[in-house]
Parts: sequence; structure tokens; C-alpha cells
Amino acid sequence: MTSELITDIGELSTFADHENRRAKAALVIENGRIAWIGDAEHPPVADVRTSVGGRAVLPGWVDSHSHLVFAGDRSAEFEARMAGTKYAAGGIATTVNATRAATDAQLESNLRALRDEARAQGTTFLETKTGYGLDVETERRSAEIASRGADVVTFLGAHLVPEGISARDYLDLVTGPMLAAVTPWVSFIDVFCERGAFDVEQSREVLLAGRAAGLGLRVHGNQLGHGGGVALAVELGAASVDHCNYLSPADFDALAGSDTVATVLPACDLSTREPLAPARALLDAGVTVAIATNCNPGTSYTTSMQFCIATAVLQMHLTVEEAVRAATRGGAQALGRDSGADAVGSLRVGGRADLQVLDAPSISHIAYRPGVPLTAATWLLGQRVPQAVTRVARAAF
Ligand code: NIG
Repeated sequence: MTSELITDIGELSTFADHENRRAKAALVIENGRIAWIGDAEHPPVADVRTSVGGRAVLPGWVDSHSHLVFAGDRSAEFEARMAGTKYAAGGIATTVNATRAATDAQLESNLRALRDEARAQGTTFLETKTGYGLDVETERRSAEIASRGADVVTFLGAHLVPEGISARDYLDLVTGPMLAAVTPWVSFIDVFCERGAFDVEQSREVLLAGRAAGLGLRVHGNQLGHGGGVALAVELGAASVDHCNYLSPADFDALAGSDTVATVLPACDLSTREPLAPARALLDAGVTVAIATNCNPGTSYTTSMQFCIATAVLQMHLTVEEAVRAATRGGAQALGRDSGADAVGSLRVGGRADLQVLDAPSISHIAYRPGVPLTAATWLLGQRVPQAVTRVARAAF
């Protein structure tokens, strides 16, 4: 098996247990794993030598929140919002109609284009959700398609009660036949716990049904107003609660005393004109924070983790290191993939060789040069991702 030495690393961010960054480093990849990390001046022998010429190397992004199985466009809704119309979850129905009408091939090709777009920008591990089907068959095929393009799939049948069915009947569907239909393809269940979507008791019912089916739990909570989403997530030991724009002191205390990760979604906050999630205060309170794109056609149509990190630094007041950690190891924690042989989001000997090289000497450039795509090369499970995939893959016109 060929081994590869990646050397002349100006700054290596590992986010391993007792280390964040080190200077003048090298590492060796073998069998898709990291076989050695050390000083660039004393590297072991390897079959192939790749010099990165003083650039920064870091883990690939772990994007722990996206909604990539969809069809259609909501730019008119976005434009109206930028002109003053408030975001309301009702726009979800527009995407549901388009998604139901799309073929499997159309949904899969859109998902793969977005996945490749993310990969071109350094994302090596991606969660995505169902939630734009909202009937048994479209949720089932969404889950199956998602499993062919994403690393982790979450069932979000409880995204909204669709037209033409009562909330009670829809909950029975979500927790019964729909859950059974998606279970082969998903590892988490999620619920949009928000006024206008599902209340706390309805959300609890959804999450408990998912848990009984063997799924991990996640919650969309406290996005559009104060509510019980965060408290419920902590009560049930959810892996993460995502959005977290409106938090009470009790929410901070609950999160700080738990293992539930607070996932903040900076691009969504800007695109919905909601207050930015209080990521600085969450970290200060001792909460584990993840940063993710929330890529979806309604509230956050970006695959750029770098944009989210730059926003977290420039506007949420995280340090560069905190933000990059939240977008790598934090995402891994939110997905329960922070330890063990399949851990992602950190670089350690024996761990997966999922990493990226920046066209910059330091991770600080991600916020220092906002908006500039800095990922120069990506390795996924030890294999360099071909240039064709690292360019944005769009159909020719
Ligand atoms: O995470 N909040 C709920 N779901 C998505 C957006 C859904 C949409 O408007 O399409 C989110 O922001």
C-alpha cells in the first residue's frame, strides 16, 4: 500500500485532544489513515512526497446540518425577505411541492452537485436531512437518495404539517409508517420544534418514536423565537440542538450541563435576518458549539463553511481557532463522530485522513480574507480528491 508524506506544512491544525495548532509540521497518510504526525525536519520515509510549500493544513470541514434533498428555487422569497418580508416556515411548502414532483434522478443530481460544491470548498463529511417530502413515499426516496450522497442522513418528516392532513394524523404518519419506511437509510431523527411547526409535546412524541426505532436525536430549536426546543433536546439527550437564536438563561444552563452540542448556522441567521445565535456566550458558558451551513433553498443557500466561519469570527466574535474547531471537531461532536476508529473532524495518528490544504499560511486567512475560496486541495480517506471534483460541478450550458 502506498504511503504519502505531506510536508512543508506551515501551520498544522489538528484539533486533537491536547493540541489545536502546531508550526512546521508534516504527516504521513497510509491506508486512508494518518500514520504519523511530526516535525517537518525529521519525517519518516514514504513512497510519495507532497510539499505544500508552507501552506496551512487542517481537517476537512464537518458540515453537520444541511437539507440537500430538494428541487426548485426560492430566490423570489429571498428577495422579498431582503426587502422586508419576515421569514416564516411556510416557504417549506413551496419546496415540498417541487420535491414531490421531481424524479429520483433530478433529486440525486442536485444533491451530488451540492455535495461536490461543498467538497471543492473543503467539506469532507456531510450530514443531510429529508424533510421536503412530507409523505411516506417522498420521505422514503429522499432518505434513500440522501444515503447515496451524504455521510449521515437524518429523518426530518416532522419539518411541517403539510396541507390536507391534521396535525394528529400527520404525527401518526411520521411516527408510524413514515418512520418505518426511512429507517433503513437514516441514523438520526430531527424535529422542527417551533411555533407554527411542532410544539414541545408533539416534538417529544416524534423524538421518542425515533429513539425507539434506534435513531439518534437532533432538534431544530429556538430559531424564530423563545421556546422549549433547547430544553427538550437536553432533556432527551439529543446529540445536537440547531439554530439556538433565542436562548433564555435557563437554556444556557441546560446546555452547559449537558453533552448536547449547540449548532449555530451563521449563514441562515443572515439570510433570515434573525439575531445571530449567541455563539460567543455559549462558548463562554462552557457549551460545545458546532458551526454548519444549513444549506437549503429557503433559509441558507450556501455550501460554504468558510463563509460561515468568517461570519462566526467577524460578527459572532469567536476567535479564529474557536470557529475552525467548531466547524471541524464541533461538527463531529454534533454527529457523535468525535471518537473511535471512525472519528472525523480532527487529525490524529490512526484517524481518518480527511484533510485540506489552504492556499494561505494560516487558518486566520479564512476570516482575514472573507469570501475568498481558500481550499487548494482536499484528501478524503487518504485519497486526493481529483481536480475535476474540486471544481464546482455544474452542467454545461
Ligand atoms: O433549518 N427551520 C427549518 N428548516 C430549515 C429551513 C426550511 C425552509 O425554509 O426551507 C432551516 O432553516
